[in-house]
This record gives sequence, structure tokens and C-alpha cells, in this order.
Amino acid sequence: MRTHTCGELNKNNIGQKVVLCGWVHCRRDHGKLIFIDLRDKYGISQLVFNSKENPSAHQLADSLRAEDVLLVKGKVQKRPEGTLNPRIPTGEIEIAVSFLEILNKSKPLPFEIGDGQIEEEIRLAYRYLDLRSPQMQNILAFRHRVSQEIRSFLDREGFIEVETPMLTKSTPEGARDFLVPSRLDKGSFYALPQSPQLFKQILMVAGVDRYFQLVHCFRDEDFRADRQLEHTQVDLELSFVSKEEIMNLIERMLAHLFVELLNTKIVFPFPVFSYAEAMEKFGTDKPKVGPARRSSMGEGGEEKFNFLWVVDFPLGKHHPFTSPYEEDLRFLEKSPEMVRTRTYDLLLNGVEIGGGSIRIHKPDIQKRVFRALKVEEKRFDFLLRALSYGAPPHGGIALGLDRLLMLMLDKKTIREVVAFPKTQKGICPLSGAPDEVSEKQLKELGIEIKKSK
Ligand code: AMO
Repeated sequence: MRTHTCGELNKNNIGQKVVLCGWVHCRRDHGKLIFIDLRDKYGISQLVFNSKENPSAHQLADSLRAEDVLLVKGKVQKRPEGTLNPRIPTGEIEIAVSFLEILNKSKPLPFEIGDGQIEEEIRLAYRYLDLRSPQMQNILAFRHRVSQEIRSFLDREGFIEVETPMLTKSTPEGARDFLVPSRLDKGSFYALPQSPQLFKQILMVAGVDRYFQLVHCFRDEDFRADRQLEHTQVDLELSFVSKEEIMNLIERMLAHLFVELLNTKIVFPFPVFSYAEAMEKFGTDKPKVGPARRSSMGEGGEEKFNFLWVVDFPLGKHHPFTSPYEEDLRFLEKSPEMVRTRTYDLLLNGVEIGGGSIRIHKPDIQKRVFRALKVEEKRFDFLLRALSYGAPPHGGIALGLDRLLMLMLDKKTIREVVAFPKTQKGICPLSGAPDEVSEKQLKELGIEIKKSK
């Protein structure tokens, strides 16, 4: 429909006939001349409607309101001296419009696009308007580029992305499950994955060697600024690997991301504290500590990003598939609290952005750990069976992509970096979810709702 986008015309195009499409960003009426800033994803171009030269287009332009959608034809011309705008790439030119078509009208807006003061619930209810602002478009594009860089980095490192099921059996990651009722087997439920933990371990038993996935995970837990009911993990698993190799891989991946996307050099290896050290020194397993060494980027891009690892958590602080240190196995039955595990959490500015461990790969040890942690062994029969067919030693980690983006972009909540987040109350103001379902749907599922009086 268009010859150019709204962000690309400049003085080299003067004299050319062009067709542009976009939204009315703002309108200035000078009587005989009407100026419209036409906006699309790529930028803003100034349109000028002249009542003398083109009375019909001028008349139509008079009726335009913010966010109407237009197609215009016209000629690129130099802006008069004194009206140049050096702040935008198209600031030296304007389009003298000879033809205007209104592709769609917009109702009056509930708020001005890009107004940062609007209440979040309203922004989320009209997220499509909120996302039209250049700030939000930049966040979406940034998130896309981070995902792309992660994928290409891991591809170069020999990983393959494998999708794992969303309708599955519950994996304990410490939160409440979201349950999905089965229609075919009334009274039984799928759980949405809190993480792909068991499937990625089973992929190691399957000989995949290096797995990754940018994956949605679901946890019914209480809200915080850095929590959502659904979040995205950069999930990895590797065979025949040490804890140190995994930590080094993640450090290299983050260093790559920060240079590519923020032009920021981060120094690694990151400082490492054992859980016991962190608790003794800082009284928390999520300390906020400056970098051990300074970055070499010069003055000022230095203490902005403070990474550190906390390792060797006691048994029970991570999921039950985490491997204890061999030398601590002797405490497992009598004093499980003394058992340290081969775990590592990654903190950025005091926020937990990742966690992982070397796993148990022998069924007899897995059974002993289940017993020590009072986990019902029967629920994980399928894992024990898989481990009994030559499971390789393996380990992995998952980074919280939303949290990483929040910190990279210096945002206060992960809701700012998620296209369609839920509110603090777990509601999607755009679609109105969660919502009631029909009697017929409930009947098919064999579910009866008890209404509280
Ligand atoms: P963990 O439970 O530590 O590990 O999760 C990994 C990372 O995911 C992020 N995260 C969240 N982000 C937003 N909202 C949430 N509700 C939320 N919950 C977690 C955090 C966290 O560090 N299967 C293991 C990983 C492994 O052992 O390989 C797991 O899920 O940044």
C-alpha cells in the first residue's frame, strides 16, 4: 500500500512522489495550512495540507482526529527555513499532500499515546494503544533482539531447542500448580509446567546432550514486582558437565548479550559465595554486592550491573532433583539439613535472575533424596524409570528472561517488558481473564461449582 515508511524520507527524496500510511500522531491547524504528524513503527513524517492547492484533501484533513489511520499521496518537499526539526531523521522534509484516504477512524482516546502518567490498569486494558508508543515499541524490539541473540549464541555452542509439553504432570518448583481438567478422564487434571525440569532431564537420558528452550512457565504464586503468573525462562540442560562449566557458559552468554545490546562490557567470572558464606556475611541468600573487579569500559554503563553467584544451597532449597555433594550423602538419612547440594543461583543487583544445579542421575540416590525430603516417590515413577536406563550425569540452569530484561532496561517491574501482562490481582484487563465458563463446558468436564453464599 505504501512506497515508504514514516521514518525513512529525508532531503535525498525531495521532489519524489510517495505514498505513506500511518496514524495521526498530532494535528496543527494554521487555517489555510493543516499540519499532520503521521506516525508508524518506524518514525514520524510531517504532512502539509494546503487549502489553495488541494481544497478537497484540506477539507478532509480538517476532520482528522488523533489515531485516525490514513493513506496519503504527495510530493516530498523541503521544509521552509526556520521550521526544520533536527531531532528527527525526517525533520528536514515534509509531504505536500495531494490525496488523502481515511482508512479507519479512531474513537476519542482514553489517554494520550506515550503518556507515562497513566494508571497501569487503564494502560493494560488498552494495551494496543499503550504499545503504539515508541517507548513500548522499543521494548518489544529489544526483547526480540535479546531472544534472537540468546538463540544464536546457544546454537553456536551446540544446543538445540526442543519444545516440551504444556499439558503435563506437576513438577514441584515450590509454587502452586495451575490445573487443567481432563475431559476424557473426568476427575483427573493436567498441570501447566512450573518449569520443563523433568522433560529436559529426560532429554538428557534421550542423548540430546545440549538442550535449550525459551519457554513459558506457570506458577500460581503471590505477586511481586518481579513475578507473574506466567513467565519466560531461558532453560538449559547439558550432559557430562560440571557446575563450573555451566556457570562459565552463562557468564559468556550474558557478556555477549550485554555487549551486543547495551554496549556494556561485563567482567567475569562473577563473584561466588557459598550459601553458608552469604548467610553469615550478609544474612541473606540474595545479597546485593558490587563487582569483585571493575569493568574496563572507563569512567561512569560500572556498578550498574552487579552479578554474583550463590552456590551450594542446603538440601530442600531447590527442587528435589538436585544432586547432593557425594561427601555429604552420609548425612542424608540422619541430618538432611547438613547436606549441601551442587546448586547455583545467579543474582543481578540482588534480584534472582537464574537458578540451576547438577542433577541426580542415579535412581537409588534419587529415591533416598525423595525419602529425606518426604516427596512421594510414586509421583515420579516415570523419572526413576528413565534414570534406570543409562542416564548420563547432567545439569542445567534456567534464567528468568523477564527479570533479566527488566534489569537490562532499568524498569521497576517485569510487567513493563511483557507484551500482555497480568495485574497484581492476576487479572488481564484487556481480555477480562479469568472469566466464568458455560454450564455446558463444566458439564463436559464433570465439574460442579459450589457458589459461596
Ligand atoms: P527457578 O525456580 O529458580 O528454577 O526459576 C528460574 C528463574 O525463573 C525466574 N522466575 C520467575 N520470573 C518471573 N515470575 C515468576 N513467577 C518466576 N519464577 C521464577 C527467576 C528464576 O531464577 N527448573 C529450575 C531451573 C533448573 O534447575 O535448571 C527452575 O525453574 O529468575
